[in-house]
Amino acid sequence: MDDFTDRVVLITGGARGQGRTHAVAFAERGADIVLCDRCEDSDDVAYPLGTAEDLAETVRLVEATGRRCIAVKANTADRAAVEALVARAEAEFGRIDIAIANAGVSANGTIDNLPSSQWEEVIGSNLTGVFHTVAAVAPGMIERGYGRIVTISSMLGRSAAPGQAAYGAAKWGVIGMTKSAALDLAPHGITVNAIAPGNISTPMVHNDSLYKLVRPDLESPTREDVEPVMQMLHGQPVAFLEPEEVTRAVLFLTAEASAHITGTVMPVDAGAAARVTA
Ligand SMILES: NC(=O)c1ccc[n+]([C@@H]2O[C@H](COP(=O)([O-])OP(=O)(O)OC[C@H]3O[C@@H](n4cnc5c(N)ncnc54)[C@H](O)[C@@H]3O)[C@@H](O)[C@H]2O)c1
Repeated sequence: MDDFTDRVVLITGGARGQGRTHAVAFAERGADIVLCDRCEDSDDVAYPLGTAEDLAETVRLVEATGRRCIAVKANTADRAAVEALVARAEAEFGRIDIAIANAGVSANGTIDNLPSSQWEEVIGSNLTGVFHTVAAVAPGMIERGYGRIVTISSMLGRSAAPGQAAYGAAKWGVIGMTKSAALDLAPHGITVNAIAPGNISTPMVHNDSLYKLVRPDLESPTREDVEPVMQMLHGQPVAFLEPEEVTRAVLFLTAEASAHITGTVMPVDAGAAARVTA
């Protein structure tokens, strides 16, 4: 289950955070890696996104394992850019066996104060970008009769929280799209599953904007200040999980032996899933 020798793995949003831990874990297990990241900030996202330096560091970590890495600056909301990356990877590495549609942003705005530009940014990155990724890898996987696709949803893809209309709409949408794609690709040896993470320790959550949203009563809230509130979203008494915990679920769902697990949603959320119906 832990052997990915000579597999080719595409990971979007690979500059840092969960995308980076997935990339390094696959490389350590013998895979060649294909990465993209937008490597620029967005006016509609209140925290810094991944940078070119971050992406270069992921490449360094992958190459340090002895595996090959293609990495480009590309925004998954741009279908042509995603298709160009897949075409390049298929030309240089021969194929894509595994795709992890991981890129995403977080933005907070209550429904009465949610600019269209913020809605479009979140839907573009978190839902349309996932569609572009799955759609771009599917034809080659169908041709070869093999594929493992994982999309990244969220515990907010099966529940709600205040200020998360756009994020929730995108992450619920990812699950619907994943299940439909699983059936479309079922005849071709390709599985498609979603992972629904809880609070994961990455720059998406450890930033001033989120800390202030969670603790509006404090001038300069710290990690310790937000932990009790973040922990309430989970079932177990833990505020944040490590990105490597999501990586383990990714490795399980993309293993060759997981051939008959498709159309599912796997939570990695310290028990938050116990509160939702399905
Ligand atoms: N951190 C959490 O608590 C949490 C919880 C549930 C789900 N998620 C999801 O996990 C995924 C990974 O997030 P993370 O926690 O590693 O956050 P992160 O911000 O550390 O990493 C996300 C990376 O994706 C890149 N990115 C964002 N939009 C992009 C786009 N349109 N095109 C290309 N690259 C883009 C960013 O530049 C960044 O490098 C996201 O889909 C996120 O919504 C995160």
